[in-house]
Amino acid sequence: MKNGIFESEFAKGFINLCEMGWQKGWHERNGGNLSYRIKKEEIAPYLDSLCRTGEICGIGVTLPHLAGEFFMVTGSGKYMSNVKGDPENCLAVIEILPDGGHFRTVAGLSAGGRPTSELPTHLMGHDARMSATDGSRRVIYHCHPANLIAMTFLLPLEDRVFSKELWEMMTECPIIFPAGVGVVKWMVPGGAEIARASVEKMKTFDAVVWAHHGIFCAGDDFDNTFGLCHTVEKAAEIWIKVRSVAESKRQTITKDEFVELAKAFGVELNTDFLD
Ligand code: 13P
Ligand code: ZN
Repeated sequence: MKNGIFESEFAKGFINLCEMGWQKGWHERNGGNLSYRIKKEEIAPYLDSLCRTGEICGIGVTLPHLAGEFFMVTGSGKYMSNVKGDPENCLAVIEILPDGGHFRTVAGLSAGGRPTSELPTHLMGHDARMSATDGSRRVIYHCHPANLIAMTFLLPLEDRVFSKELWEMMTECPIIFPAGVGVVKWMVPGGAEIARASVEKMKTFDAVVWAHHGIFCAGDDFDNTFGLCHTVEKAAEIWIKVRSVAESKRQTITKDEFVELAKAFGVELNTDFLD
């Protein structure tokens, strides 16, 4: 059953998300990355086929909640456009060791390489979103959508400003991300510092914008994680269109209307961001 894991049902969902993101134009070159916390029953049939004697690597932080978990992740420098055609080369399965501070690659990266350079943000993000949602969040997705990145040159880098502007752009937005979005100022990608700043936001938000870089989204499954990202980017696209033709809006959704909407759909809207 060598590498059969890349033909599993969850791998199909993983690969499909990579392909959809590529089709959207959110993954120039090796841009973006994806991770999935594999369910116990999903990894069980493959345990005997995994190579569990490889090099042990440090995560850079200790995440005791993740000890013993297995993740499917994209490889660093791998292109999303190649994932569908060659998943065994582009993807890895990693195992978090019992100390919660180390991992090893147990499948994939068939031509060599290592997991995404954003692994610290992914793993610390899983730790934060898992705790905040009673374990329901399993997917973390990072991509480079153009309209959202463009917004980060025009608005103050504040959670409330981005959240309200995005909510206003499309009626479904407050229903899909009622907590709003977090915003992290520009920082060097790939390290522990940006991971820590992102994780502070991930304690509250499923979507975190990285100024002049992209977005991280968390979700329970591949569809709702991609759907969240798609919704935020579409709202950003409308925002850019509106801003491209006029300095200010002629009318918008009011605070009372937002409250009415939240009540009708039974969502807990973060009304602090409406003032
Ligand atoms: P990786 O190729 O290491 O995943 O990096 C891509 C990226 O988008 C970094 O932010
Ligand atoms: Zn990136």
